[in-house]
Amino acid sequence: MKFFIDTADTAEIRELASTGLLDGVTTNPSLIAKSGRDFIEVIEEICEIVPGPVSAEVAATDHETMLAEGKRLARIAPNIAVKVPLTPDGLKTCKVLSGEGTMVNVTLCFSPGQAILAAKAGASFVSPFVGRLDDISTPGMELIADICQIYSQYPDFETEVLVASIRHPMHVIEAARMGAHVATMPGSVIRQLFSHPLTDKGLAAFLADWAKTGQSILGKDGAKDDKKAPSRGQG
Ligand code: E4P
Repeated sequence: MKFFIDTADTAEIRELASTGLLDGVTTNPSLIAKSGRDFIEVIEEICEIVPGPVSAEVAATDHETMLAEGKRLARIAPNIAVKVPLTPDGLKTCKVLSGEGTMVNVTLCFSPGQAILAAKAGASFVSPFVGRLDDISTPGMELIADICQIYSQYPDFETEVLVASIRHPMHVIEAARMGAHVATMPGSVIRQLFSHPLTDKGLAAFLADWAKTGQSILGKDGAKDDKKAPSRGQG
């Protein structure tokens, strides 16, 4: 399962990319507004930090302008995924851009029927919003189960299910159980995935016992001891 971070905060992207566990980034107009930065400039910077897909969303709603915006965004870097809304004009734009070899992320998907349309339009990703469905008392994860099941019936569908609007680690775990390809989430949720109180407790106990031994794995000279180790194959 791929992990994308859902933010336009480049400091946070750098921090989590340094773990080697980040496969891509999603942004949207609200996240760009929150960053307070120039859209093109911030997307350029993100594309340099993360080699995987970086979603940048069009702002127009008519096909012609969406297409022009999508082409402008696609020129930023080869790892751009142009994000278009799940509307007739959005899907029309998706079909053209996908046909030209540009990755497209079809966003604001709230039903299995919409997800089928996104796949037929050649989207690289479809983004069903689970948290926003939960917010209106409709089980978001049921939509993911439906889409994964439907897509599995059609091996010619190349669209990846990108679970979006994730609010907590259970959304991620359930999405993984269902075989969703990607989860995009805020940095806070990625950090929550690392944490378990028993990990903290166990580590504290191990460190306390290790201190009692008075030993150091690297020895008094620290990492310099590495140089003395015989290299493999020299007997
Ligand atoms: C995904 O691409 C969207 O940017 C995002 O997941 C929306 O999340 P929200 O519902 O928390 O705003």
